[in-house]
Amino acid sequence: MSVFDHFKKRWVLPFFFLGENTISLIGGALASASAFVMAGFWMVDILGHGGSTNPYIGLITFLFLPGIFILGLILIPIGIAIQRKKLLAEGVLPSIYPDIDFNEPMFRHALNFVVVATFINFVIVGVASYRGVAYMDTPSFCGAACHVPMQPQWVAYQHSPHSHVDCTECHVGSGFENYVHAKMAGMKQLVGVTFNTFPRPIRADLSDLRPARATCEQCHAPKRFVGDRLMVKTAFADDEKNSMTKTMLVLHLGGVDSLARMSGIHGHHLDHFEYVASDSGDQTIIAVDAPGANGSTTEYVSSDWKGPVKGTKRVMDCMDCHNQATHVFQTAEDAVDESMADSSISADLPFVHKEGLQLIQATYASQAVAATKIKSGIEDYYRTQYPTVWNTQRAKVEQAAQSLVTVYKQNVFPEMHVTWGTYPNNIGHTNFPGCFRCHDGNHTSKDGKTITNDCTACHNLLAVDEPNPKLLSEMNFQ
Ligand code: HEC
Ligand code: HEC
Ligand code: HEC
Ligand code: HEC
Ligand code: HEC
Repeated sequence: MSVFDHFKKRWVLPFFFLGENTISLIGGALASASAFVMAGFWMVDILGHGGSTNPYIGLITFLFLPGIFILGLILIPIGIAIQRKKLLAEGVLPSIYPDIDFNEPMFRHALNFVVVATFINFVIVGVASYRGVAYMDTPSFCGAACHVPMQPQWVAYQHSPHSHVDCTECHVGSGFENYVHAKMAGMKQLVGVTFNTFPRPIRADLSDLRPARATCEQCHAPKRFVGDRLMVKTAFADDEKNSMTKTMLVLHLGGVDSLARMSGIHGHHLDHFEYVASDSGDQTIIAVDAPGANGSTTEYVSSDWKGPVKGTKRVMDCMDCHNQATHVFQTAEDAVDESMADSSISADLPFVHKEGLQLIQATYASQAVAATKIKSGIEDYYRTQYPTVWNTQRAKVEQAAQSLVTVYKQNVFPEMHVTWGTYPNNIGHTNFPGCFRCHDGNHTSKDGKTITNDCTACHNLLAVDEPNPKLLSEMNFQ
């Protein structure tokens, strides 16, 4: 007898004979159905349309489906063992197992059962999983279903220029590696949410995000010359009149011009700068390597840093400056100034800048408490201090109260320990270190070069906090 025949007689035929029992057949159907569905997920992923950041999708692809699959596989031998024991006890276990024969009704019967059961399971599990995953890929699920932990990022996302870009675009993307990485991260987050151990606030780590090449640069061309850009900022003071001033600057955005020359803010930095930070939020940058001509690099080290330069190097990309491209958190001053500039908080109300700021900067136990206290705070103020304003401009007072509450709710999340300034914005240098993490005049190379701190390298200040810049009225700038 050949080895093959022996194998067939000893294992394959008994398997089919004894396998024809309910438990094994259900096991087989479960295993094959889940295998189909998993294969479907993998295909979708390889084709690049299924990438998902969703923490819960990990539950399905990493736990649920393989769980069903393994359960199915385990049920098959269990069924066989039970069947064998039963037949042995009845003394009807054949000494020679019947050959597999498609003319044999018993075998056809078994096969039919497996095929039909597999098909039904496939449809049920497949549709359910597909629908679940499709839903879970939507920003509203990422942001809203996982309510408490994601709330600050979700709210900030909704009023950003990228509110129509799916979370998955920036946080996961396609490709098997990304997929697995995101699934593992998702599982960790899921555990955090289940056991309520997630950090408050959730801290962003740029190295967890996809590189800008795969995200931002898919929509924004990196090598494009933008030239200079005029910026006008409106601010209000704390006096009774809420005196308005303007700041005008011309930012040297630059870029890469048609002769491939790099200039300004969007120029050199994107030419493979590497830096080392001493904190995970990259707020304290201790050293930068900048490429120069002929493949040379210049290393600039902070003079505040006494030790050796050690740590993970990060290649600078869009997100090192635009870390708040999507999750925009304002300072209290900027938020109030902006609302006053667009008149949702009327500058006609005496001291509204000062009072409003004080109210939104106070500490409250929750957003709900804040909403009540801010509203009553502003109304009480005008009722008691400016009864004429209260009597004649009630609508403006109520509108201001409403806007202050909105501004608060967009930026402060007591449950997540997120308050004004929790999340730094790396653009600029007036509220957070930002550009001055490197351009502080304190990062120097061995041969004595310093990363520039010259105001004019980045912008020309045309007016700083002027009530009525002449230039602005000449330009008729709105
Ligand atoms: C255009 C790209 C983009 C989109 C779209 C986007 N994010 Fe982000 N997200 C970022 C960047 C960049 C950071 C890092 C911010 C920083 O370092 O300050 C971040 C940080 C976060 C963080 C902080 C913790 C972490 O993972 O590092 C959370 C939570 C988050 N995003 C959730 C979401 C959710 C939920 C959505 C969809 C509603 C979303 N994001 C959509 C770019 C994006
Ligand atoms: C899916 C396409 C897409 C992706 C991905 C994307 N953006 Fe944008 N981005 C846009 C569009 C469209 C606008 C213009 C929105 C508008 O004008 O309202 C925009 C606007 C901006 C602006 C100008 C904002 C302003 O206030 O004027 C910046 C800065 C920006 N994106 C940076 C980034 C960065 C950084 C990333 C990567 C983290 C990124 N974008 C990813 C499509 C995208
Ligand atoms: C060194 C910091 C820095 C880096 C790196 C950087 N930017 Fe910017 N970017 C700025 C500043 C500063 C502005 C102007 C101020 C603002 O928009 O708030 C700006 C403005 C923009 C704008 C608006 C431009 C316009 O015409 O109004 C877009 C879009 C943008 N950046 C996209 C990107 C993308 C995409 C990348 C990566 C390829 C990138 N930026 C890399 C600092 C940077
Ligand atoms: C990680 C460190 C780092 C950060 C953060 C950074 N820069 Fe730079 N930047 C450099 C280095 C290094 C150089 C000089 C490279 C060289 O020429 O050797 C430079 C050069 C420049 C230049 C060209 C200066 C010139 O004289 O040619 C401009 C403009 C500039 N940066 C603007 C900005 C702005 C605006 C920001 C913030 C939005 C910023 N940088 C953030 C490291 C940084
Ligand atoms: C490395 C680049 C860089 C240097 C050097 C620099 N700035 Fe700026 N500055 C910026 C950027 C970028 C912004 C715009 C921030 C934004 O988009 O809100 C800015 C904004 C400002 C503003 C307006 C801030 C506001 O919110 O009203 C003032 C004022 C200002 N800078 C003053 C200075 C002065 C004074 C110096 C010289 C000591 C200087 N800056 C040096 C990059 C720089």
